[in-house]
Amino acid sequence: MSLISPWRSDFPGILALEAEGQTYLDSAATAQKPQAVIDALLGYLAGGAANVHRAQHLPGERATRAFEASRDKAATWLNAASREEIILTRGTTEALNLLAYGLQTLFRAGDEIVISAQEHHANLLPWQQLAQRQGLKLAVLPLTAAGDIDPDAASSLIGPRTRLLAVSQLSNVLGRRQSLQPLLQQARQMGAISVVDGAQGAVHQRPDVQALGCDFYVCSGHKLYGPDGVGLLYGRRDALAHLQHWQFGGEMVLEADYQTARFRPAPLGFEAGTPPVSAVIGLGAALDWLTSLDQQAVAAHEAALHQRLLAGLRQRAGVRLLGEPQQALACFHVDAVHNADLAQLLSEQGIAVRAGHHCAMPLLKRLQLPGAIRVSLGLYNDGADLQRFFDALDKALELLR
Ligand code: ALA
Repeated sequence: MSLISPWRSDFPGILALEAEGQTYLDSAATAQKPQAVIDALLGYLAGGAANVHRAQHLPGERATRAFEASRDKAATWLNAASREEIILTRGTTEALNLLAYGLQTLFRAGDEIVISAQEHHANLLPWQQLAQRQGLKLAVLPLTAAGDIDPDAASSLIGPRTRLLAVSQLSNVLGRRQSLQPLLQQARQMGAISVVDGAQGAVHQRPDVQALGCDFYVCSGHKLYGPDGVGLLYGRRDALAHLQHWQFGGEMVLEADYQTARFRPAPLGFEAGTPPVSAVIGLGAALDWLTSLDQQAVAAHEAALHQRLLAGLRQRAGVRLLGEPQQALACFHVDAVHNADLAQLLSEQGIAVRAGHHCAMPLLKRLQLPGAIRVSLGLYNDGADLQRFFDALDKALELLR
């Protein structure tokens, strides 16, 4: 069966790369952008750029309207209760750092932060550093062999000293979608704050922050077919009230004197300085575009591609999958072959996949691997992309073994 993507022609970047002989299978690192996003960026940049929230002139009002419309779109897309619950950040990493600094005063020495062993650096290092600054314990939930957070370990590790739980919906290495609701519920029962990292998860299933029941949710624009340099931080209204201001500068201030100042509440109080105006407008276009798609058709296409990817990897001798991926991506290593050598030979054949530790060094160490190759899918990929990948893989392995 051919497995054609009906959305491929919306992506000039995918078509340009194909014309150049490149097969793009690295969408978990960053996704290509649909024409609608490129048009929105060009419309703003070529139509007259202006700063937001500051000026009464026409370009300034127009930019502010478009910028704030993206906040509305993000609130609707995430199913937040109100637009005031959406802070526009520069990405997932900045959103998590904002939380780690903004919540710092809630912790006392000896309190515990709980994360899981699957976390990428963005959802590990801000908490690790917070733990070091405040004398906290960082507890790490172990994973099953498949890559799920071990529910029994979670029951014993999330306890009365837990002040915060931070977990990813979908691992960028294991491709496993976690059942987060029971964990979030345990955290709530212990009076802990919960943070969900949707950097990968938001791309392959539209988030519903109210159904999920988390206090905070973060994701990035560039993986969601939008521009880079922008991300979303959702905070439930009462959870946002815990946040202390962390970056200081223009437009987040209500009143300033030389010695003192008073600051705005969320969201504007957490958007200091000139925000990434064009990227926010582009992200709004990406959310409109995503919303316009037939969600079931996208899910069915992605699932069929993923099944074909897994089947092809599983049938090749010596190829070992990391965990049991369920969605969007698969990481693997090959017996007696170094991942860097294989990546080099794939790259020489025009196959764009990611190799190495995938910004999740502790997880790779736990798996006792120096690195792995990751194939990750976007909705524009099709069966022919996978065929080119497998042909290149077979050729590379023939040379290396
Ligand atoms: N976290 C991104 C990845 O997995 C950058 O590639």
